[in-house]
Amino acid sequence: MLNKLTVNGFKSIESCELELQRLNVVIGPNGAGKSNLIGVFRFLNSVLSKQLQLYVGENGGSDRLLHHGEKTTPMMSFRFDFGYNAYSFCLKPAVGDTMVFDWETIYFHDTRYLHPWNLQIGAGHKETVLHDTANTSGSGRRVAEHVLQGVQNWVVYHFHDTSSSAPAKKTQDIDDNRAFRPDAANLAAFLYWMKLNHPTEYRHIVEHIQLVAPFFEDFVLEPSRNNPNKIKLEWRQKGSGAYFDGFSLSDGTLRFICLAALLLQPSLPSLILLDEPELGLHPFAITILSEMIEAAARRSQVMLATQSVTLLNQFSPEAIIIANNDGLHTNFRRLTEQDLSIWMNDYSVGDLWEKNVIGGRP
Ligand SMILES: Nc1ncnc2c1ncn2[C@@H]1O[C@H](COP(=O)(O)OP(=O)(O)OP(=O)(O)O)[C@@H](O)[C@H]1O
Ligand SMILES: [Mg+2]
Repeated sequence: MLNKLTVNGFKSIESCELELQRLNVVIGPNGAGKSNLIGVFRFLNSVLSKQLQLYVGENGGSDRLLHHGEKTTPMMSFRFDFGYNAYSFCLKPAVGDTMVFDWETIYFHDTRYLHPWNLQIGAGHKETVLHDTANTSGSGRRVAEHVLQGVQNWVVYHFHDTSSSAPAKKTQDIDDNRAFRPDAANLAAFLYWMKLNHPTEYRHIVEHIQLVAPFFEDFVLEPSRNNPNKIKLEWRQKGSGAYFDGFSLSDGTLRFICLAALLLQPSLPSLILLDEPELGLHPFAITILSEMIEAAARRSQVMLATQSVTLLNQFSPEAIIIANNDGLHTNFRRLTEQDLSIWMNDYSVGDLWEKNVIGGRP
């Protein structure tokens, strides 16, 4: 479990040190910095897939990423504390709109010793050397392996695209089922694998979809007749003999299907990150979504940003982190039950948010 996240100098986050729990729900007005917080993990995913330079280029250069630009903030740093390990790195701008590592460090806290063991694995490099450290027989190999295993398992999922070119609607490789892809690009292949190997979880998913979309009968999951290595999303509608595929699903239904497949799958990634998962869902579907999120947080760890009062109402105050942007920087504050004890008897958290009692409103 990711216990603590420390960020300095990234976008609107000048500095933040956030203790995390199993369930973390970030709320706040538009522009508060919620997506920037989830964005830390997108950024981390890019760093770990050795695409830091690509990320910097695609996002407008280091000046856009550094807090109020590189004149104000010469470098940015991140630290992730999880289990007995931590991973930390600091980046600074370099010529040609690139960024280099000022340092990259791994930690291991053996409880027998007061201070954690740490090793700086590189400086001045352009892409992470964590994999190299884990793969070569030098000092720190074991710790690097552990760190890599941990950080690689934190995934930002994004199912907002339901256009005709949405990844979930495309024909997919039938064997692409090792893990559910962050953009649901292997939805049909993954459901097919679950149906064959984990029928209970598969049934569970179908039942949850039926709660939200009562017309939905089941998926039709079979290899393509023209090419048995391929599969695509097809389904049956109750009382209809017509042909339905991904293109026939409504936007909200497709998003809900992706969320159900993610949250109800047999083995979850160790940290699931979602930005506004409620997008386009009916309030009743949001209630079901909140139940799936809570259940997933009991098995793993979840962090999400939301604008939905309905979703917020389902969670306990301890899960909630309020993002506020004072115009220059974002700060994050966790709600405590004590904060709310006087109010909670009469109102739900969502009500209090709407009434602007807990902050996090424009
Ligand atoms: N390099 C930067 N330095 C300082 N602030 C930045 C930087 N880049 C972005 N910001 C700030 O971050 C804000 C956007 O934050 P973010 O996208 O996280 O908001 P949000 O809380 O997700 O809002 P919404 O609810 O609209 O999605 C911008 O309005 C801007 O003020
Ligand atoms: Mg946002």
